[in-house]
This record gives sequence, structure tokens and C-alpha cells, in this order.
Amino acid sequence: MRIIAIANQKGGVGKTTTALSLAASLAELNHHVLLIDFDPQANATTGLGFNAAELTSNIYTCLLSGDPIENAIRPSHERNLSLVPSSINLAGAELELADMDRREYVLQSRLASLDGSWDYIIIDSPPSLGLLTLNTLTAAHEVIVPIQSEYYALEGLTNLLRTISLVKQRLNPNLALLGILVTMFDKRTILSAQVKDELVKHFGETVFTAVIPRSIRMSEAPSYGKTILEYDTLSTGAEAYRHLAKEVEHREQ
Ligand SMILES: Nc1ncnc2c1ncn2[C@@H]1O[C@H](COP(=O)(O)OP(=O)(O)O)[C@@H](O)[C@H]1O
Ligand SMILES: [Mg+2]
Repeated sequence: MRIIAIANQKGGVGKTTTALSLAASLAELNHHVLLIDFDPQANATTGLGFNAAELTSNIYTCLLSGDPIENAIRPSHERNLSLVPSSINLAGAELELADMDRREYVLQSRLASLDGSWDYIIIDSPPSLGLLTLNTLTAAHEVIVPIQSEYYALEGLTNLLRTISLVKQRLNPNLALLGILVTMFDKRTILSAQVKDELVKHFGETVFTAVIPRSIRMSEAPSYGKTILEYDTLSTGAEAYRHLAKEVEHREQ
């Protein structure tokens, strides 16, 4: 079982889209995939067609009310893909966690009972480097960092990589940077190409060869409660995430 966190403290870089689309692409390759929505905004939950407000068992109740994680798992309408939904209450969890023993390990301990039940667990994280994100990095074995290919894209990356390396030293020696993913790539702009070249120059093969194109279809899919694989299965976006899933399979640690 591999646990992969999708993390970047910046909002709007494609974390949720990557979590949903990678999860769906791995599921299409016949892996049993569990997607955990760990962002209070619950975009991954909505993106799979669920209404977060209606789900009484969710990642918040598992984290803080002793609800077993198995209670919160919902099969999605896409084959091999299940979800642990988020809840708006998770926004307050940061403060509640702060008072707990081993507060960086709460998510890890809640996932312990799932050992072996899934091929992949993909965790979507919130846009901050707070305690929630620390919990995802401590629970994960591997982390994917999506980077939006535009100006300022690299700003904040040093901080994030430093956090990942501190988590590895102090909290989770098993954590590995699985790769950096270029998202929202616009092949018509020089800037997109420059950002990608810059990343490859600094990080070499850590940058996935899969590059996610910017496309309207991709931004439409969540409002239909479908991943891009179902919404427009032959689109360039769907193909790019399939390519990513293959690379993830081959990069096994
Ligand atoms: N490749 C893409 N092409 C076009 N729009 C995208 C793409 N990836 C994400 N988006 C859109 O950009 C916005 C931010 O993406 P999202 O995945 O929610 O980022 P994050 O989770 O990092 O905040 C969303 O509206 C999403 O639908
Ligand atoms: Mg998000």
C-alpha cells in the first residue's frame, strides 16, 4: 500500500485536480484507490459528486470524534475509487489538534487500521503549511508537489521543500518526494515553457515528464461531479493524468 500526499501551501495550483485525476487514473489501471479529502474546502468531495454537508461520517469525525475511518469511506460512481469526504468542520481542527498528544501523528494513527486494504491512498491537502498539512506529510510515504506553470510559481517552493525535509528528519523518516508536477501548462506561452525549463534545471528527474495542460474541460469536470477521466475521457488533460499515473507506478520507492 502506498500513501501519497498532494501538497503545496499555495492555493489554486492544481492540488485537488491532481488528487482527483491521479486517483481516477490509478483506479483505471485496476488499483484499489482511496482518496482522502483533507481540505476543509471539501473540493475533492464535491468534485466526486458528493455533498459534504450531508455526510455525517467524514475525515473530521474520524480525526477528532473517534469515528472509525471505515465508517467514512464512500464508494464513488467510478470503479475502484472510494472517498473519505471532508467537512467544513475541519477548518477548526487545526486548533483542536494543537492540544492533542502527538498532534502531528493523528491522521497517521487513524489510517493505521486500513493497512493493506488499498493499493493507493491519495491525500488532498489544504493550502497552508499548518498542522493539517503536517499531518498529511506524516501520514504519507510519498509526496507530489504540483506547480502551476506561471509567474511566481517557484516562490514558496523552497519553503515547502524545507518543510518536507524537516518532516522527514523529525517526524516521518519514510517520507520521499515522489515528484514535482507541472500543472496548467499553456503551450502557447513562453512563460509556461520557461517555468518548466527552470524546474527541470533545478530538480532534474524529480520533475515528472507528464505535464498537465491548461484546459477548459479540466476546469469544467468538478461541477459535474466527475473526474476528467469520466467527464472527457479522451481529452488531453485525461491523457496527461494517465501518463502521470504510469510514472507514479514506475517510481515506486
Ligand atoms: N489543468 C487545468 N486546466 C484548467 N483549469 C484547471 C486545471 N487544473 C486545475 N484547474 C482549475 O483551477 C482551479 C484551482 O485548481 P485546484 O485543483 O482546485 O487547485 P488547489 O487544490 O491547489 O487549490 C480550479 O478551478 C480547477 O478546476
Ligand atoms: Mg484544493
